[in-house]
Amino acid sequence: MQNFDYSIPTKVYFGKGQVEKLSLLSQFGSRVLLCYGGGSIKKTGLYDTVLQILKQNQMSVFELSGIDPNPRIESVRQGAQMCREHNIDVVLAVGGGSVIDCAKVVAAAAKYEGDAWDLVVDGSKIQDALPIATVLTLAATGSEMDQFAVISDMTLNEKLGTGGECLKPAMSVLDPTYTYTVSKKMTAAGVADTMSHTIETYFHNEPGGYVQCRFAEGLLRTCIEYGPIALEQPDNYEARANLMWASSMAINNIIRYGVFVPWGVHPMEHELSAFYDITHGDGLAILTPFWMEYVLSEKTVQKFYEYGVNVWGIDKNLDKMEVAREAIAQTKAFFAKMGLPKTLSDVGIGEEKLEIMAQKAATKTAGCFVPLNAQDVLNIYKMAL
Ligand code: NZQ
Ligand code: ZN
Repeated sequence: MQNFDYSIPTKVYFGKGQVEKLSLLSQFGSRVLLCYGGGSIKKTGLYDTVLQILKQNQMSVFELSGIDPNPRIESVRQGAQMCREHNIDVVLAVGGGSVIDCAKVVAAAAKYEGDAWDLVVDGSKIQDALPIATVLTLAATGSEMDQFAVISDMTLNEKLGTGGECLKPAMSVLDPTYTYTVSKKMTAAGVADTMSHTIETYFHNEPGGYVQCRFAEGLLRTCIEYGPIALEQPDNYEARANLMWASSMAINNIIRYGVFVPWGVHPMEHELSAFYDITHGDGLAILTPFWMEYVLSEKTVQKFYEYGVNVWGIDKNLDKMEVAREAIAQTKAFFAKMGLPKTLSDVGIGEEKLEIMAQKAATKTAGCFVPLNAQDVLNIYKMAL
């Protein structure tokens, strides 16, 4: 197991009615930048609830609204400008991963003299940020508890992940009932994202990370158990609660400490979103099984065998390669059962830009579980067509 410095500082308020804990925001000051997306929080009434709590606690509220899925740098710049103009004390994101990611970089850009895009291109420039708080409405990215943010500049076809210790939210409200209104499509995409974060972390070459692997298998089994239930019964509290907590745990570093490996499928997916603005979880559901097929070999079969036996319950007495292939087939079948797209053509992606996307993705995939160069990434994209 590698050495690590444990730090998961986000205070989590989990469960029904925990939004009342927003009263604690006053510890940071009285001026709040409230960030949200295209209006789902207005439809559900959460916007009114949040405003009422903030007003009851004598807070002045300024609003950054209209944050897009795959959040844009333009929103970040606008938010940073508002923070400076209005002397904001704390940035509050109410929404899914896109809103939270945008709010995080707003909080950092407010403390940075140059252009906000610098912070996206080079995370080492993120040295300070306003305190960040979140109310999560979609279980998927884990942004509510992690140090990452993903921002796009569509004029450049760039979608880049950045991060910094100071981007870990100070507090997050996780009320599973807020996810009852998430569409089937986004529920499924969220499950695929949580599973992908777990799979990317689980497929590593670090010997001795037994506890992390068993944790990760538990998270995957949780998604497999509760994903279909949430699709069928959107207001099933147990399903929504388990999916929500799994999504936070998949990327808050708890399964990654000691077994760190750079991720491969996410850089490949980020290029799809950057060029085609597709839903992140859809792209991951398409690419993951093809990536698995591509990297399966005599050298990697043991890991796939463990995955097959411990996650999918495949007979451990079968031939290891047979178990591995069956595990990949079951992964594919599960995503299909969740109604997720199966191929790039399902989401309108053809051959045109595969080469450029492969070249860009390959700048980040050299150190992965199985190192991938541009030709490898291209091969995987082509398999997924
Ligand atoms: O914009 P509104 O109106 O709020 O609607 C959103 C949006 O259209 C809607 N939605 C959210 N909560 C809802 C709801 N609709 C009904 N009821 C609710 N309770 O869902 C749509 C998608 O929201 P979005 O925030 O884009 O989804 P998600 O949480 O999946 O976030 C995706 C973004 O996060 C990035 C992705 O790349 C993508 O840009 N990621 C961030 C990561 C991180 N910070 O660690 C890691 C991930 O790997 C990922 O890359
Ligand atoms: Zn993801």
